[in-house]
Amino acid sequence: MKEISQKKINDKNLNLHSELGAVSQDELEVLKDSFIEGVPFQYLLNKADFYYSEFFVDPSVLIPRSETEYLVDLIVKRHKGKIERVLDVGTGSGAILLSLIKHGVGQSGLGVDISFRALEVALSNTKRLHLEDQVRLINSDRLNNVEGTFDLIVSNPPYIKSQSHRELVHPKVNQFEPHEALYLPDDFYTFWFEDFFGEIRSHLAGMFYMEGHELELDAQAEIMTKLGFKNVEVLRDLSGCKRYLEASFHQ
Ligand SMILES: C[S@@+](CC[C@H](N)C(=O)[O-])C[C@H]1O[C@@H](n2cnc3c(N)ncnc32)[C@H](O)[C@@H]1O
Repeated sequence: MKEISQKKINDKNLNLHSELGAVSQDELEVLKDSFIEGVPFQYLLNKADFYYSEFFVDPSVLIPRSETEYLVDLIVKRHKGKIERVLDVGTGSGAILLSLIKHGVGQSGLGVDISFRALEVALSNTKRLHLEDQVRLINSDRLNNVEGTFDLIVSNPPYIKSQSHRELVHPKVNQFEPHEALYLPDDFYTFWFEDFFGEIRSHLAGMFYMEGHELELDAQAEIMTKLGFKNVEVLRDLSGCKRYLEASFHQ
């Protein structure tokens, strides 16, 4: 079989989100081979549905997941119309932040990501959803470049341990999705989250929600409680797995 790599798809810059009718025979061949190889169809078509909107995606961003959609839905139901400033740490495609703002959680939003390429994708989605007046995007390692406080901070950070959790990851996810979005080194994991929660505390004047790993959330909830967060809870996703943290902190 012809070898089709993710790079080749990027290099070819297939614009498959346009009408399939406008795709050439060569491009259709690449599409077919890539599909057979297992490239996620969202990357092939450059689009992913998420919480009533269509987002542009490419291999520089995580494909937004249904469990993240569930978190967005929970936040919308609880906080619609009651929040002014929202921060999304590790915004990726912008799926969480843009969905929240679009559905009335937050009058203004800031999205940060360590990846420039991801921020370009988030920007294109901001334009696609006509939210340029309400949303700003900046490059930042966690909250290093963030100023001010927020009524709501949300994050779906990389939360898979690169060694001990790796075998639980589907090989196709490991092969095609950006590792920067997925993994943290095992020996650094706890420190990363301790520092992260400390940074969140410095910028939070309200609610914090985070998606995380089912095997890590209880320990992370303890860390947050020790750091002075209030009402720290581990929440479950639709399948009953521990999947999210919620907490509050007021400056
Ligand atoms: C799991 S993905 C989440 C993407 C998107 N928010 C979603 O839910 O679909 C994690 C994101 O965090 C970003 N990221 C990883 N390390 C980071 C860091 N130290 N500071 C800021 N963003 C980071 C990655 O580039 C990636 O876009």
